[in-house]
Amino acid sequence: MKDDLEFDMEMAREYDKGIRRALPTYDALFRMVQSFLRANVEDSANVLVIGAGGGNEIVTFGTANPTWTFSGVDPSEAMLEVALQKAKNEGIEERVSIHIGTIEEIEFNETFDAATCLLVLHFVETIEEKLSLLKTVRERLKPGSPFVLVSMFGDQSHPEFDERMNLWKSIWLDLTDLTQEDVEAMEESVRELSFIPASQIEELLQQAGFERVTQFFSTTLFGGWIAHSKK
Ligand SMILES: C[S@@+](CC[C@H](N)C(=O)[O-])C[C@H]1O[C@@H](n2cnc3c(N)ncnc32)[C@H](O)[C@@H]1O
Repeated sequence: MKDDLEFDMEMAREYDKGIRRALPTYDALFRMVQSFLRANVEDSANVLVIGAGGGNEIVTFGTANPTWTFSGVDPSEAMLEVALQKAKNEGIEERVSIHIGTIEEIEFNETFDAATCLLVLHFVETIEEKLSLLKTVRERLKPGSPFVLVSMFGDQSHPEFDERMNLWKSIWLDLTDLTQEDVEAMEESVRELSFIPASQIEELLQQAGFERVTQFFSTTLFGGWIAHSKK
């Protein structure tokens, strides 16, 4: 287990470096998400973190907001171990509970004051599964609670998508030693992910029971939306 954990900590360190190349505004995104949550919750908020693997939401928001508690959900046990280890390193583990599985699989005996789902939805393959995830988030929230969704998005058949993809590849080429061939291969695997257009993400959020759905963020292939669970 320990060896696995070390391997996973290494993976997590790689993730922390890699995500800032894949998404150069990752840290700015987290600052904006925190400001939105702070503006919309009371002092002692319980926050549901969907796709908590690696622990960045829990640690970033947990250290800066000492009265918040967190429930992190993720199907990857290994990545949740990393999240818990990071929480322990920061001395905030008493305010953190972790739950292995998808949000639909986990029963909670409480409802939440806020939720985030950052960089997860493009891994959820079908529209039905995306809607089910969002509906379940809605059910787990108190009415009127803030929710932040960040995902890769776009219509792959649209020329605008190609322009955003080209910029995404240019950033990798600028920031790393990767070759043109490397980034072409990355493009191929990224295109396998489940992209849907911004308008469809907004429709799904509305269908799931969210209102005041507003896009607040866009960087290359990634978009972010703020919303509130319907009252
Ligand atoms: C790219 S990481 C994002 C981690 C973190 N939210 C962040 O912003 O850095 C995606 C995470 O989503 C998790 N994941 C994939 N499918 C999921 C699902 N259906 N429900 C919850 N988490 C899921 C993966 O296990 C992984 O830990």
